[in-house]
Amino acid sequence: MNEKLVLAYSGGLDTSAAIKWIKEKYGTDVITVTIDVGNEKDFTLVKEKAINAGALKAIVIDAKDSYVNEFIFPALKANAFYEGEYPLATALSRPLMARLMVEVARQEGATAIAHGCTGKGNDQVRFEVSIAALAPEMKTVAPAREWGMTREETIAYAKKHGIPVPVTVKSPYSVDAAVWGRSIECGILENPWNEPPEDAYEMTVSVEQAPEKPEYIEIDFEEGIPVALNGTAMGGLALIQKLNEIAGGHGVGRIDMVENRLVGIKSREIYEAPAAVTLLKAHHGLEALVLSKPQMNFKSRVSQEYADLIYNGLWFSSHREDLAAYVDSTQRYVTGTVRVKLHKGNATVVGRKSPFSLYQLSLATYDKGDLFDQNAAPGFIHIWGLPLKTQANSQKKGNC
Ligand code: ARG
Repeated sequence: MNEKLVLAYSGGLDTSAAIKWIKEKYGTDVITVTIDVGNEKDFTLVKEKAINAGALKAIVIDAKDSYVNEFIFPALKANAFYEGEYPLATALSRPLMARLMVEVARQEGATAIAHGCTGKGNDQVRFEVSIAALAPEMKTVAPAREWGMTREETIAYAKKHGIPVPVTVKSPYSVDAAVWGRSIECGILENPWNEPPEDAYEMTVSVEQAPEKPEYIEIDFEEGIPVALNGTAMGGLALIQKLNEIAGGHGVGRIDMVENRLVGIKSREIYEAPAAVTLLKAHHGLEALVLSKPQMNFKSRVSQEYADLIYNGLWFSSHREDLAAYVDSTQRYVTGTVRVKLHKGNATVVGRKSPFSLYQLSLATYDKGDLFDQNAAPGFIHIWGLPLKTQANSQKKGNC
């Protein structure tokens, strides 16, 4: 009996060619695993393709709920944006995929796991580091990194072996899609001076095409997690899907950035993430109401550390667990409602309320009912400024 290998299978050209290539090169049987994180594919077709390309067995796993509850929501609670802009849709899906691949490999008695990543991206690192964390004994294989074929040669190889070349090969872009967002790379986008053409986008309309009239939505949060949209309670996945439609319809969530990859290169990345951008803003807006100043300050530093760690493939580290414990603790009172105005590419928080609000009108108001004791200010300023006065007197006398 042949040894078995489990291949993360997207149904695209590379992973289809990889089925044949692995069988030829390593002599193992190939079981494909296709993981649905909301990439809107016809998975029966993907399964058929895998079998036709020579897979022993083709498995499809609907992992959308795990993706949302176990990966997206912790990142949302942490306000995780990589380099201040990218909500990490791809980076959050890879550790989940790795975990599921390990589970299948163990169930099927496979000794190796393969993926279709090239040697230039972040995803190879995320897959392999996650697999090493969960199953140190497992071998990993990366055909697209090893075979040294160009795109044209891969197409020729596929044709030679009767593997149907997918229509998507015609697409000028390389796309990765999930419910938390879509990433678009390659082709004309590789020149960072080129504005992305409209055909790069699928989840969002252009600002020009977005309706003139703004739309207001309300999102309820409970302990940092969105639980209702416009007053209707919804599960996380349904809420994100609905919000992708609504916010995408107003052109919200388009991101055009130059990003620093883990493997040392800069790349031009286009993202669209309507629900992610809206929820991250709304969540942050609610936090501003219920967290204290030092909590907000410290948490924003943790956010950056957390985002880097997700981006860099270290989801299954103890460091992440420690940061997550801190973040969870900060979310105890992040309960309330946020009103967001969606208009012409913008999602703006225009209202927030919470039973745990730290905002006190009687302290903030300049109108009647002011309880803030202005007579206490001079004493406060005297003590606050004392170290500076001391320094000025003994070190910088007369120097401005
Ligand atoms: N640059 C993004 C990241 O590293 C997106 C990667 C997209 N991956 C892909 N295989 N197309 O997370």
